[in-house]
Amino acid sequence: MQIDTRAATRRLPLPPKLGGGLPLLGHTLDFLRDTQGLMRRAASEVGPVARFRVVGKDMVLLTGPKVHEAFFRAPDEVLNPSEAYKMMVPVFGKGVAYDNDGERMMEQLHMLLPALQDQRMRTYGSVIAQEVDDSLSTWGDSGERCIVEYAQTLTNFTSSHCLLGREFRKEMTEEWARVYHDLERGIVPIGYIHPYLPIPAFRRRDRARARLGEMVSEVVERRRRSGTVREDFLQTLMESRYKDGSALSDHEITGMLVAAMFAGHHTSGVTTAWTLIELLRHPKELALVRDEIDAVYAEDPELTFPSLRKLKRTEWAVKEALRLHPPLFILLRAALEDYEIEGYLIPKGTWCIVSPIVAHELDEVFAEAKRFDPSRYDKPRQEDKKPFAYIAFGGGRHKCMGNAFAILQIKTIMAKLLHEYDFELSGDPIETDFSGLVLGPKLPCRVKYRRRG
Ligand code: HEM
Repeated sequence: MQIDTRAATRRLPLPPKLGGGLPLLGHTLDFLRDTQGLMRRAASEVGPVARFRVVGKDMVLLTGPKVHEAFFRAPDEVLNPSEAYKMMVPVFGKGVAYDNDGERMMEQLHMLLPALQDQRMRTYGSVIAQEVDDSLSTWGDSGERCIVEYAQTLTNFTSSHCLLGREFRKEMTEEWARVYHDLERGIVPIGYIHPYLPIPAFRRRDRARARLGEMVSEVVERRRRSGTVREDFLQTLMESRYKDGSALSDHEITGMLVAAMFAGHHTSGVTTAWTLIELLRHPKELALVRDEIDAVYAEDPELTFPSLRKLKRTEWAVKEALRLHPPLFILLRAALEDYEIEGYLIPKGTWCIVSPIVAHELDEVFAEAKRFDPSRYDKPRQEDKKPFAYIAFGGGRHKCMGNAFAILQIKTIMAKLLHEYDFELSGDPIETDFSGLVLGPKLPCRVKYRRRG
């Protein structure tokens, strides 16, 4: 779809407005109380391009593959992610990722690519498998636990191992957990407006970021001195060069690692939990997935990388859990110029939103959209192949770089868990916790487990 940035000269109408806003506040209260409810209403009552006002800012929600394409393909000079995600600057660090012009940001992000290529996935596959085995060694024959907490801890270990390296994972676990926790607790909604307010959460965040910088520098220095070369993200970044031939500073390396960790840890953790929950809610699907896993194990008890690739149905279950429960439920861009979309003027200064959660509920795009149905990815349906329909990983120029890593990780965990144990949901029905920036199941989320006979 073509974007016309000269729209301002054409006197186009503004997008239709959602009714029910208050005189000065607009839809601010609805947005704070029930963001996804507001967006669902905007999409169903107004249509693919819906306008509302939040904290004095015009927002436009774009819903449906056609307008998603306009959003995801827009150049950064027109629809810009940095403005919307600037609360992350103190976490990643000055001059890292979103704190750059578009070109420099893309140059930095692309340095992660060699760490995400096929060959590396083989290494990560065995690291992840080992981490799962270690975690299960304390489970015993039966018991009960919160699957979300388990998945978050496990994906913290796997991600830090694959990204930051063996040194971190083996030597610095406790301190790393503390520092990472303080960084995470520094991401609060007020940060959207004032990321440098002198409040305790931000002071702890800044101390944690400084300490993390020291920790990464120590490891980098040790590797340089010893000449050790490893297969992790840290190594990739140490070897990366800008176009002008210069290397990343230790500060930039730390920031990029934190960015990758933040992008991939919670998102993968909650998706692991949702995949298991949805399979337990759908015993027929669970049986199909387990048959596939058992067949793969029968051929290759080591569950090597080529075997993991054979787990198609398991992968569809992960994708379907992600479709119904996309952890990143609003994606934002700030309009830096006027532009036109579907005959409407989007004025400079507007925030544009695409919501995977609303997009994935469209029955005209996904058959019986609310149903957990992994077969929708099988031939001939392949509903995920419709352009810009399935957007759990975003799309276009800023599409998730870690999607293959995430799927590999969740598939591996799922295969190990379901091969070793039978599970049963216990406790109250599980709902979504909408209080955070990354959506997951509401805690506690108890499952009973028993070793398979
Ligand atoms: C289930 C897990 C994951 C989900 C659901 C997810 C989702 C997303 C989404 C929706 C975006 C697009 C954001 C936007 O358009 O504003 C994104 C971008 C990104 N993701 Fe992921 N992600 C996951 C895992 C990962 C992992 C494991 C990594 C790295 C190891 C990663 C690295 C990135 C990066 C670097 C970007 C920014 C790309 C850019 O701006 O060009 N993600 N992710």
